Amino acid sequence: MIPKTMLKRLARRHGTPLFVVDHDALRKNLADFRRHLPRVQPYYAVKANPDPAIVRTLYRAGASFDVASLPEFMTVHENIQHLPPKERQDFIWDKIIYANPIKDEATLRALDPFRPLVTYDNFAEIGKIRKHAPHAGLALRIRVPNTGAMVELSSKFGAAPGEAVDLIAAAHRVGLVVEGLSFHVGSQTTNFDNYVQALHLASGIFREAHLRGFTKMNLMDIGGGFPAPYDANVRPFRELARLLNREIERLFPEKNIEILAEPGRFIVATAATLVAKVIGKAERDGKRCYYIDDGVYHTYSGILFDHMRYPVKAFRRGPTQPSAVFGPTCDALDTISLAEPLPDLKLNDLVYTENIGAYSHASATHFNGFPPAKVVHLNV
Ligand SMILES: Cc1ncc(COP(=O)(O)O)c(C=O)c1O
Repeated sequence: MIPKTMLKRLARRHGTPLFVVDHDALRKNLADFRRHLPRVQPYYAVKANPDPAIVRTLYRAGASFDVASLPEFMTVHENIQHLPPKERQDFIWDKIIYANPIKDEATLRALDPFRPLVTYDNFAEIGKIRKHAPHAGLALRIRVPNTGAMVELSSKFGAAPGEAVDLIAAAHRVGLVVEGLSFHVGSQTTNFDNYVQALHLASGIFREAHLRGFTKMNLMDIGGGFPAPYDANVRPFRELARLLNREIERLFPEKNIEILAEPGRFIVATAATLVAKVIGKAERDGKRCYYIDDGVYHTYSGILFDHMRYPVKAFRRGPTQPSAVFGPTCDALDTISLAEPLPDLKLNDLVYTENIGAYSHASATHFNGFPPAKVVHLNV
């Protein structure tokens, strides 16, 4: 956690709203992930926070990357290329997976010269990849239970397990090579059973594919979903890791099968804190209402897009009462909380929100002409 005195000092120096990223926390989260899951190579999901400084720090710390669009691909590629030659990638699959199963034709054409590794989950995509990115390697995304995840993904993506081997065969028929499987158990998954079931489904598909002659598959991508410790209800990561290690060893004992994962939130959520300022104050129906200079169209966008609830905390002490906290725009949707326990705040007081690094600044807009929060990087 960044000390409160430092947060206040930074806000005085840089102004608010201020998004403070602690690169020591990024490195620690990545190191924890690797220590607890020694057989799994983390491909940081850039969508969680695509800041190039974050990409560079994680690259230097040994991460690979999951991208979901051509701009994300180029962000990673360029920030890797800018490093000294000895640190550059030799082989792009070791460093980047393009893990959006749906790609437009122009994106496929732009990706093809890089000979990328891309995911797919349907027959139409095979035709597109064959035509526009014939040099790509493929990973088939399968549908797995997302039960209890904060963000559900299985209604949008993933081949039904029953059609998986047909999709592998169809890709091979047109000369493409399927390297392995991928899945996503849903973001902020606290129901660890999702991973167990997903690994089961995947190992069954591996076995069936093997029987039908597709013996070269050697990649198992276990996706994202690893929960950030937002509160005490989230069980420790080491418990999930113990379960995963056991199931991976049991179901994929062959050491030639590479296991990779796409953690986003787990790496970046706890690495950033937002500092905002009270710019307005009113009492409505007996309730204190505070207006701050960041909101749902900006760093708190995760309230809408990520189904998150972000506590807003005060630096000022004093007896608290349930208060409303609104963002700076004219839209009533710009409501951060209707019942935040806050003391009697004054105009220009600072407030802060911790653990706001994932799916926050990444989806901030310029709505009403308010720009996204300024970003400060610590311990780079
Ligand atoms: C394909 C894919 N991989 C990885 C992630 C990152 O997930 P998380 O932030 O839950 O780790 C997402 C999130 O939506 C995703 O869609």
